[in-house]
Amino acid sequence: MPGVYDRKKNSAITRSISPSYSNALSTYFGEQTPDFSMAEGSHNAYVAALEAHGTDVTILPPLSKYPDSCFVEDTAVMIDEKVIISNMGHPSRIGEEVAVLEYLSKEYDIIRMPEKCKLDGGDVVFYDDCFLIGLSTRTNEEGANFLNDEIKKSGYDVKYIKIPESTLHLTTVCSTPRPGTMIMAEGHLNLEEFEFVEEIIKIPNSESYAANVLGYSNDRVIIADDFPVTRRKLMEHGFSITSVDMSPIMQADGSLTCLSVFLK
Ligand code: GLY
Repeated sequence: MPGVYDRKKNSAITRSISPSYSNALSTYFGEQTPDFSMAEGSHNAYVAALEAHGTDVTILPPLSKYPDSCFVEDTAVMIDEKVIISNMGHPSRIGEEVAVLEYLSKEYDIIRMPEKCKLDGGDVVFYDDCFLIGLSTRTNEEGANFLNDEIKKSGYDVKYIKIPESTLHLTTVCSTPRPGTMIMAEGHLNLEEFEFVEEIIKIPNSESYAANVLGYSNDRVIIADDFPVTRRKLMEHGFSITSVDMSPIMQADGSLTCLSVFLK
């Protein structure tokens, strides 16, 4: 049945924090230089939270040449059993995808994008049986159109979403905690583009970082620590919540979903 793998989250890959993490890109949330040791602590807690929710996590080795390489979500998009390997949208990140490709090619059919395509996986959100693709500073029309064709071949719908300059990726300001529901930070996206969504949980822009959550079956959700309005709203909507201190990851504009590619 379409849409099921994303909710089960049976297995995932992550990548350890790069020793050069202090040079990670940091434009939106970062107030301090990203700190390697603190980020390692958050990454460990993150992996433990995924495992506690039943995800079998493979941790790939750190890449010292690539400060942002823990953000594996951007390198690959899973469509059932096939993997689209991205052409990274920022020049400093080009090459991160190669090591992910090498790992995933052992088990999956790999599709590479043509050279003119740019796409960060952080611009892709799977809502029920529909892939939402953000057009952003990292994802160009060629990249979105290429992914669109591959998604349609697999029988899913696609919708394009315009990403404003106020945010990095589509996943930076919204996510899907359960089928039929999106959580979204106010003040970024045009709600008219989301009229197909059954239920939108809006959170204030002051807590926009918390709009990125990881939804599991039975209304369980992993959220970032220290966002009380978001926590309360999710509880009011019936979620049971696990939180992770993501502040060292936030310093490099990374969110919960950025740290994984969910495989099955
Ligand atoms: N620091 C994550 C990114 O800008 O891609």
